[in-house]
Amino acid sequence: VRQAHAALLALAALATLRAAPPEATYVGSRVCAACHMDIYQRYLRTAMGRSVTNIDPGAFPAPATVSSDAFHRLYRVFARDGALYQSEAGFDGAGRKIFESEGKVEYAVGSGENGVTFLTRRKGFLFEAPLSWYAKTDSWDLSPGYEQADEGFSRPAYAACMVCHAGRSRPVEEGADGQYLDPPFAEAAVGCENCHGPGSLHVAARQRGRASLPDRTIVNPSRLAPRLADNICMLCHQGGGVRVLLPGRHYADVRPGVPLIRIVALARLVSDRGGVLLEHHAAMESSRCFRATFGRLRCITCHNPHVQPTAAEAAAYYRTRCLSCHKETSCKLTLTAGRRAENGDNCVACHMPQQPTGRISHSALTDHTIRARSDEPAGSPSLRPAPAGLAGVELLNSIPGEPELPLITRLELCGELMPSSPELQTAYLDLLAQAARALPNDPLVLAALGRKALATGQGDAIALLERAVRPPAVPRQATYLDLADAYLRAGRTADVVTVLERAVSAFPYSKLVRKRLILSYIQIKDYSKARAALVAYVDDFPEDDFMRGLLKKANGG
Ligand code: HEC
Ligand code: HEC
Ligand code: HEC
Ligand code: HEC
Ligand code: HEC
Ligand code: HEC
Ligand code: HEC
Repeated sequence: VRQAHAALLALAALATLRAAPPEATYVGSRVCAACHMDIYQRYLRTAMGRSVTNIDPGAFPAPATVSSDAFHRLYRVFARDGALYQSEAGFDGAGRKIFESEGKVEYAVGSGENGVTFLTRRKGFLFEAPLSWYAKTDSWDLSPGYEQADEGFSRPAYAACMVCHAGRSRPVEEGADGQYLDPPFAEAAVGCENCHGPGSLHVAARQRGRASLPDRTIVNPSRLAPRLADNICMLCHQGGGVRVLLPGRHYADVRPGVPLIRIVALARLVSDRGGVLLEHHAAMESSRCFRATFGRLRCITCHNPHVQPTAAEAAAYYRTRCLSCHKETSCKLTLTAGRRAENGDNCVACHMPQQPTGRISHSALTDHTIRARSDEPAGSPSLRPAPAGLAGVELLNSIPGEPELPLITRLELCGELMPSSPELQTAYLDLLAQAARALPNDPLVLAALGRKALATGQGDAIALLERAVRPPAVPRQATYLDLADAYLRAGRTADVVTVLERAVSAFPYSKLVRKRLILSYIQIKDYSKARAALVAYVDDFPEDDFMRGLLKKANGG
C-alpha cells in the first residue's frame, strides 16, 4: 500500500507540475484588484488578508494601562500626533521611577481574530512591543512570554516569523536577526501572489487581451497536484519542528507550484508527533479521509482562501465539503438520532472538535485529524521518510521522487534537533565526518568542526573557527561566541575582544554578545570601554535590571 501510495503521488506530482515562469515578478495585490475586484474585496475581509497591517491608531482602545507587579512595571498605550505608542516604566521597591522607555508601534501582527501583537522599529530593526491586544478578553495585556521575562522593546521580530505572517517581508540577508530594509514589507498582509505566484506576466498578457484557460501565466492551486497545492499552505501552517533552508536558498525563492522541499526542509523528531502547535497539515495527513483517498483530501477541499465563512455559516459550509465525498448515511449515527438532529447535523462539531487555546498564539484551534470519535487515537501518519542518515526524524514536506536532501542540510537539521534528542549525536558525528571530507571549506562545516574541537579538546578549534568567520562567510552568532571561547581558553584576551566587537557590529541588538563584550573589556582591564559599553547597553535595554544594577555599582552607587 505504501509503495502504491508513493507511486501515485509521484505520478500526480509529475502530471500537473506547474509554476509561474521564472521571469515573472511581483506586482502586489492591488494590481490584481483591477480585474478581480470581487475576489479582492472578499479576500481583504478574511483573517489572512489582514495578517499584518499598518497601524490605524483609532482601531485600538487607547489610552490604557497595564501593570505587572512581579516586575514593578507600568505599561501604557496612548495616541500622539496621529500615531500609536506604547511605553514602559520601571519602579524600585519604594515606588520611585527608575526608567521609562517608549516606542511608536508601526505594524500590527495578527488580524485580531485571536489577538494582535505590535511591532516597533529602531534603526532598521523590528521589535515586538510589550503589550498585545487580546480579542477574547477585549483588553490589553502583556505580550505572550512577557510574563516570564520582561524584554521591553527589544524582542526581535525575526525574519523567520515574518515569512509566515507577512505577504512579502524584506529582511537584510546578510544582516542580523530582525533587521529589514526600508520599508520592511513589500506587501504587509498575506496577498494574492503568496498563493498564485508572481503575477507580472499574467497581468501583461491579460492587459493585451490574451486569454486562455488554464492560464499558463499564473498558478491556480486547484490545478496543481494535491501535494503541491498543500505545499503552498504548509509553508505557513505547518510548524512544530525545525526549518532549514537549502544551501543558497532564501524564503523569497518559494514559488507556488514548485516543491517546497527544494527551498526549505521542514522536519521533526518522530517522537514529537501529536503536538498542537501549528499542526494543521500533519494532523490532516493522519486522517482516514486523507489516507483512504491517497491524499486527494487537501487544504483547499475544505477552504476557499478568498472566503472566510462567518460563525453562523461555518457548519453548513464545511458540511457541504464533507458531503463531496461522504453521504449523509456514511455516519454511524442515524440522521434522525437525537444528537445529529439537535446539532443541525454539524459534521465538524463532532468530527473536528475545537480545542481551547487560551492565549497561546500558535496552537491549532480546530483538530484537523478527522476521526470517528474524539477519544480515538489518531491514525498513523502517512509515508514520511527519514532523510538519509537520520533515523527517528521525519521530513514533513517530503515529495516522492525529489532528490535526497543535500548533506549540509541534513547536518544542519540534525544539529538543530540534537538538543531535544541526544540519541542523534552518533548520526550527527557521522554526517559531520562525511561533510568534513566532502565540503572541507564550507563555513558551516568549519563552524561545526570548530565547535566539536572546542568541546572535545581535539583538533585546532581556533584555526577552524577563524576560517568559519572569514569573509565572505556570514557567520552565526554562535560561531563568533565559540571563537571567543576558543581564544579565551588559549589566554588570547585581546583577540576575544576583537572577535566580539565584530559580533556586536553584526548583531547590534543581541543582549548576549553585548554582555560578553562588556565582560571581555573588564577582563583586559579596559574599564573605560567597559563602562561606555555598559552605558550604551542600559540605554538600549533599560528593562534589564541586572545590568542596570551593575552600572549603578560601577558608578559607585
Ligand atoms: C488585466 C486584467 C487582469 C489582471 C490585472 C489580473 N488578472 Fe487574473 N485573470 C484575468 C482574466 C480575464 C482571467 C480569466 C478568468 C476570468 O475571467 O476570471 C484571469 C484568470 C486568473 C486566474 C485563474 C487561472 C486559471 O488557470 O484558472 C488566476 C489564479 C488569476 N487570474 C490570478 C490573478 C492574480 C493573482 C493577479 C494579480 C497578480 C491577477 N490575476 C491580475 C484578468 C486579470
Ligand atoms: C510556520 C509559520 C509561522 C511562524 C514561523 C510563526 N507564526 Fe505566528 N502564527 C502563524 C499562524 C498561521 C497563526 C494563526 C493561528 C493559527 O492558525 O494557528 C499565527 C498566530 C500568531 C499570533 C496571534 C495572532 C492572532 O491573530 O491570533 C501572533 C502574535 C504570532 N503568531 C506571532 C509570531 C511570532 C512573534 C513569531 C516568531 C517568533 C511567529 N508568530 C512565527 C504562523 C507562524
Ligand atoms: C504566507 C503565509 C501563508 C500562506 C501561504 C497561507 N496562509 Fe493561511 N494564514 C496565514 C496567517 C498568518 C493566518 C492568520 C491570520 C491572523 O488571524 O492573523 C492565516 C489564516 C488562515 C485561516 C483562518 C482564517 C481565514 O483567513 O480564513 C485559514 C482557514 C487559512 N489560513 C488557510 C490557508 C490555506 C488553505 C492556505 C493554502 C491555500 C493558506 N492558508 C496559505 C498565513 C498563510
Ligand atoms: C491563501 C491562498 C490564496 C490567496 C491569498 C489568494 N488566492 Fe486566489 N485562489 C486560491 C485557491 C486555492 C484557488 C482555487 C479555488 C478553487 O478552485 O477551489 C484560487 C483561485 C483563484 C482564481 C480563479 C477563479 C476562482 O475564483 O476560483 C482567481 C482569479 C484568484 N484566485 C485570484 C486571487 C486574487 C486576486 C487574490 C488576492 C486578492 C487571491 N486570489 C488570493 C488561493 C489563494
Ligand atoms: C475536512 C475539511 C478540512 C480540511 C481538509 C482542512 N481544514 Fe482547516 N478547518 C476546517 C474547519 C471545519 C475549521 C474550523 C472553521 C470554523 O470554525 O469556522 C478549520 C479551521 C482552519 C484554520 C483556522 C484556525 C483553526 O484551527 O480553527 C486554519 C488556519 C486552517 N483550518 C488551515 C488548514 C490547512 C492549512 C489545511 C491543510 C493542511 C486545512 N485547514 C485543511 C476544515 C478543514
Ligand atoms: C476527499 C474525500 C473526503 C472528504 C472531503 C472527507 N472525507 Fe471523511 N473519509 C473519506 C474516506 C475515503 C474515508 C474512509 C472510508 C472507509 O474507509 O470506509 C473517510 C473516513 C471518515 C471517517 C472515519 C474515520 C475513522 O477514523 O474511522 C470520518 C469520521 C469521516 N471520514 C468524517 C468526515 C468529515 C466530518 C468530513 C468533513 C469535515 C470528511 N470526512 C471529509 C473521504 C473524505
Ligand atoms: C452528533 C455528532 C455527530 C454528527 C453531527 C455527525 N457524526 Fe458522524 N459519527 C459520530 C459518531 C459518534 C460516530 C462513531 C460511532 C461509533 O463508531 O460508535 C460517527 C461515525 C462517522 C463515520 C464513520 C462511519 C464508520 O463506518 O465507521 C463517518 C464517515 C461519519 N461519521 C461522517 C459524518 C458526516 C459526513 C457527518 C455530517 C454529514 C457526520 N458524520 C455527522 C457523530 C456524529
